[in-house]
Amino acid sequence: MVSDKKFIMGTYKRYPLTVNRAKGKYIWSKEGKKYLDFFSGLSVNNLGHCHPQILKAIKEQIIKHLHISNLYYDHLQVELAGKLVKLSIPGKVFFSNSGAEANECAIKLVRKYGHLRGGKRKAKYKIIVFDNSFHGRTLATLSATRQKKFHNGFTPLLSGFKQAKFNELSTVEKAIDSNTCAIMVEPVQGEGGVRVATGEFLRGLRRLCNKFKLLLIFDEIQSGMGRTEKMFAYQHYGIKPDILTLAKGVGGGLPLGATIAKDRIAKLFGYGNHGSTFGGNPVSVAAGLAAVKLLNGKLLNNVKVTGNYFMKRLNELKSKYPKRIKQVRGLGLMVGMELKEEGEEIVKKCLEQGILINCTQKKVLRFLPPLIINNNDIDKLVGTLDKILSS
Ligand SMILES: Cc1ncc(COP(=O)(O)O)c(C=O)c1O
Repeated sequence: MVSDKKFIMGTYKRYPLTVNRAKGKYIWSKEGKKYLDFFSGLSVNNLGHCHPQILKAIKEQIIKHLHISNLYYDHLQVELAGKLVKLSIPGKVFFSNSGAEANECAIKLVRKYGHLRGGKRKAKYKIIVFDNSFHGRTLATLSATRQKKFHNGFTPLLSGFKQAKFNELSTVEKAIDSNTCAIMVEPVQGEGGVRVATGEFLRGLRRLCNKFKLLLIFDEIQSGMGRTEKMFAYQHYGIKPDILTLAKGVGGGLPLGATIAKDRIAKLFGYGNHGSTFGGNPVSVAAGLAAVKLLNGKLLNNVKVTGNYFMKRLNELKSKYPKRIKQVRGLGLMVGMELKEEGEEIVKKCLEQGILINCTQKKVLRFLPPLIINNNDIDKLVGTLDKILSS
């Protein structure tokens, strides 16, 4: 095992695994042990590790150029933006490098909108966000993140975020005031414990936004790019956001963030209003373009089939261990199993058994496998969990 204590800041509690290489749904340690990946680098490697088409696109790009300034045109950026818009909402894209940056861009955009709507003397600036949300670690996105444990030691936070209750529409209507300009929500809360928005809630948010002329931001940084069987989770609900934020899987394994906004909102940004030196880097964009092309109907259907099977198998475990498992929930291959006890020991035992899973909110085992898994992989995980839970 490599020790990182001397030179790396201690922000990550790491597991005892030093990765040597990864391919498809497998990772190999430095010592040569093989692991089945049910975490996908936190919903990044949705197509599995090192997909040949993504590697090909990267190789073709790196011999052309690695970086050009955003002051020049890049046809791959235009192509990827066009594809993302076609798949989501008619509008325009701003490319960045990460999820937090994609959300920062969305926050700036809705503030611009609020300034124009409220006029110079009474700019609207408040954004309604939700308990257990997670939107990133920069100061603005940390302020939008409503989990106290992330705030400790970093106050004062940025003002202008008002908290309402996830899946409780009445709390949202109460939170709206004359300063409100937007609502920001994850259709499936990932870090918050894999909590899926109800249709009533999400459609209600759309209605409230229409009624009060607010902008609706969907943060699909974790739930997007095929993870839930649709390209974007909101597509399960029959409504559309005004702004959609993406990262993680959108770069096919390389750092990329994207903020997609309807035309009437996107046009509020003029020259110099926003920018990023590396945002939409040519290599990340090439990888992202290859990844988007690979997220086809056949793969999404695999997410549907394996997602249903996964739920069924986990619910069987729940029936077998009612004293240890509280609830199984999720959408597609974004799945959580809430325990009645802390889950970290189970994550460690899975690791020992050669399977990578995760735990969030202390008690929720979180599974984010690559979208290429099959029922045998699920059987392997469920069999391992069964053995662990029976002991
Ligand atoms: C829903 C959501 N939003 C934003 C982020 C922040 O993304 P990043 O770590 O790329 O800044 C995350 C990361 O887990 C996320 O899950």
